[in-house]
Amino acid sequence: MAKKVLDQRFKVLSIETSCDETSVALLDYAERGTQYAVRLRHHETATQIPIHRRFGGVVPEVAARTHVAELVSLLDRAKIISSGKRSTFDAIAVTKGPGLATALRVGVEAARTLAMLTGKPIVGVNHLEGHLASAWLVPENRRRWEFPILALLVSGGHSELVLMRDFCSYKVVGRTRDDAAGEAFDKTAKLLGLPYPGGPEMSKQAKTGNPKAFDLPRPMLKDKSLDMSFSGLKTAVRVLVDKLGLESKHAVRGTRYDLPDLCASIQAAITDVLVEKTIRAAKLHRPKCIIMVGGVSANSELQEKMARCVKAELPDVRMLKPPSGFYTDNAAMIAAAGLWRLRKGKTDAWKKLDAEPELDL
Ligand code: KG4
Ligand code: ZN
Repeated sequence: MAKKVLDQRFKVLSIETSCDETSVALLDYAERGTQYAVRLRHHETATQIPIHRRFGGVVPEVAARTHVAELVSLLDRAKIISSGKRSTFDAIAVTKGPGLATALRVGVEAARTLAMLTGKPIVGVNHLEGHLASAWLVPENRRRWEFPILALLVSGGHSELVLMRDFCSYKVVGRTRDDAAGEAFDKTAKLLGLPYPGGPEMSKQAKTGNPKAFDLPRPMLKDKSLDMSFSGLKTAVRVLVDKLGLESKHAVRGTRYDLPDLCASIQAAITDVLVEKTIRAAKLHRPKCIIMVGGVSANSELQEKMARCVKAELPDVRMLKPPSGFYTDNAAMIAAAGLWRLRKGKTDAWKKLDAEPELDL
């Protein structure tokens, strides 16, 4: 039996600093019998995207320094220590990994300091579990939430198919063997001269393009395993860009030649693989629900294609989506995952908690 560490009513303060978003949230939890209520009291995210855009990607040292400055302001605005010096939270959840070592350490050290000063319990959260929990932030999803759940977790650093057997109990049933889907978007977008992060830019351009204009590879699509691979796509796009630049006398970079068609074709190749592998995994593992989480799941083409295929091929499976605006990194999802752990009595000793940049699910 898990030991109870908190009352049935408590507030979780959460901190997220794993990459290029600094985020702080306060989540209320109340439990009565088998019923419980969850309410997001406060949530604020400071994005560093405009800062890193100049460099074409995230610069770890710059990210860490910016987190330090932003986190102090965000914690101050969240009023986590009231004027009477009483803390306004009962537990702390902080992203411990995976992510950029220097960036993670900023959040972890701030959280450890708060735990030391207030004596409140602290829990280190796996960022990937945070993404899984993002879909649980929607009240309607919580009502329809039933395990086993199959999650397609697609972000800048990860592309995984995760079978969730219960809260805090996961099995990775498929994963990318090289680049993540977000990386495939970002790297191919860079080849086309689009700004960082490439995913949202490519999705915008693709809206007016023809997805069949260019025949791009769908790696491992026919492969029986649930694994994926996206590095071949990046190479194919590089070859295509060079060829188009030569034949058309228009460099794709700069002139935007064929840009919407190229973007739509790249997006179609990535989303075809993600949808096909998810459907295959669902047929094999028979989940009650499917969730799509992580930055790439904000992609509207992916959402529409997945919804269409699930409806046609798996009519009994429920599709649950995170709230819009919660696909990319945020502290609310870290509070939710922290809550899952706290409800099971899982906490860490602040003296021992450390950043784990290579953490797996
Ligand atoms: O989950 P996330 O915010 O950070 C990580 O944990 O990595 O995901 C960021 C990734 C980036 O690669 C970004 O290009 C991608 O999500 N992304 C998108 C879209 N919005 C964000 N990719 C495709 N379409 C989008 N609309
Ligand atoms: Zn993330």
